[in-house]
Amino acid sequence: MRMEASAPAKIILFGEHAVVYGQPAIAAPVSSLRAFATVEPNPAGLIGLHIDAPDLNQRLPVDIRAESVDNALALTAQLVLNSLNVPPPDVTISICSQIPIASGLGSGSAVSTALARALCLVLDRRMEDAALNRLIYEVEKIHHGTPSGIDNTVIVYERPVYFVRDKTLDTLTLGAPLTLLIGDTGIGASTKIAVGDVRKRYDLDREATENIIHAIGNITEKAREAIERGDVLVVGAMMNENHELLRQLTVSSPELDHLVGAAQQSGALGAKMSGGGRGGNMIALVTPETADQVENALRKAGVVRVFTTTIA
Ligand code: MEV
Repeated sequence: MRMEASAPAKIILFGEHAVVYGQPAIAAPVSSLRAFATVEPNPAGLIGLHIDAPDLNQRLPVDIRAESVDNALALTAQLVLNSLNVPPPDVTISICSQIPIASGLGSGSAVSTALARALCLVLDRRMEDAALNRLIYEVEKIHHGTPSGIDNTVIVYERPVYFVRDKTLDTLTLGAPLTLLIGDTGIGASTKIAVGDVRKRYDLDREATENIIHAIGNITEKAREAIERGDVLVVGAMMNENHELLRQLTVSSPELDHLVGAAQQSGALGAKMSGGGRGGNMIALVTPETADQVENALRKAGVVRVFTTTIA
């Protein structure tokens, strides 16, 4: 009865943080980096639904009657069971993820999506992507406080998206594939804190912050056009500009700036931080000719891990 479901990591190509304020953003799944949820029979003597997530140091029973659930995995299971209106199955669902935690790659959303899908599998029930997306968005609030919804959306639908909060969800068709190196600073950072700090800045100095947010929105629009016509040079240039604006929003960090600088100076078409920032990952747009030299430069600059992904 072993069943498995999974969900991918994600990167934000353009527009993080500004997307919280209604500006567009572009994100893509990283299908080679995944979270897995495996359904197994309960060990002898164990009754009810149990979640076992050794990577997250969590092993917990799920109580669907609990009123306030502040654990993301337990909340995911509770929401799935309640929305399908079924009792918990007698199984253990084990979570295992290749996605580094707190690194801007959507680990929280991916783990919850894999768990929700595994639960649907064992219950032999189908949940449409739109319903699953709404459910994972509710769970995202535990991780992010006031999420825009882009992380759960790109992860649940697993395709490149152009996204405007509560308004637009377009699938992007790329004019040319984009090859990206994803470089990990190895520094865990809370998206919730970074998003909260931008909000404080916005409240303190609204005009200046709004100017940066709008400028990021304009870059995202130009980047969308360039992505669709396959103009990788413009995509790269927009990434560099987007990174500079994120620095001005104070969500970058010395380590991210260092890796972004190393990529830019070693021949990347463009580079920027990706996700909540303050740590986590950066991305660099490369060509087959420059991929190795940029990767070497990132390694010399102290990157902890590098993944390559191609968005097509
Ligand atoms: C995090 O991946 C993206 C942010 O814009 C937060 C959000 O959109 O919820 C920083």
